[in-house]
Amino acid sequence: MTSYLVEKGCILYCHGARHDIYPNPATGQKQPTPGIMILYRDSTAGITAEQLQGFFEGWPNPPSPETHLKLLANSDKVVLAIDEESGKVVGFITAITDGVLSAYISFLEVLPAYRGRGIGRELVRRMLEKLAGLYAVDLLCDPDLQPFYERFGMRRASGMSLRNYLFQSGS
Ligand SMILES: CC(C)(COP(=O)(O)OP(=O)(O)OC[C@H]1O[C@@H](n2cnc3c(N)ncnc32)[C@H](O)[C@@H]1OP(=O)(O)O)[C@@H](O)C(=O)NCCC(=O)NCCS
Repeated sequence: MTSYLVEKGCILYCHGARHDIYPNPATGQKQPTPGIMILYRDSTAGITAEQLQGFFEGWPNPPSPETHLKLLANSDKVVLAIDEESGKVVGFITAITDGVLSAYISFLEVLPAYRGRGIGRELVRRMLEKLAGLYAVDLLCDPDLQPFYERFGMRRASGMSLRNYLFQSGS
């Protein structure tokens, strides 16, 4: 993990402890650039709806920031990525679990401006760490994202889903 972070370049804070410095890879440039400091948290304590802007990209009827906060707080497991400078939440992952055998990773999203910096990967890594010991960890994703999840040892599977778009905003 450390070598990835050094290679990609950013400043990563994990539970408040500084880990590594690496440049923004969005341009493909390897030389150091001012880093973005990301703090990872596994609780919504102290988080406000104002910190939750810009998520649910492309959803026709997205949840409001207030509903998003409720969704995060009600999930069994959550990891948030926070831009330490602005205090904004820039990425999140949630899971629901029976705590015995199975868990379902329900949402993962990183704000567009923060993508390609390893934040999504770190969110998944931390969530899988939380779910370690369970028999089954499942999620649904588009085929182009399957290679992303395969890096964590996940395998392709078939599934079924039901979507009621009347309730997409959660309110
Ligand atoms: C998927 C998502 C969370 C990845 O976040 P991110 O912070 O950009 O991911 P990372 O920087 O950790 O990327 C890790 C690797 O996955 C790859 N990857 C990221 N998004 C990808 C995508 N949509 N398709 C294919 N590969 C992707 C990256 O290229 C990167 O590979 P590299 O290490 O070889 O450069 C982000 O693109 C996103 O929020 N997308 C919209 C919501 C979404 O699709 N969520 C997933 C629902 S299952």
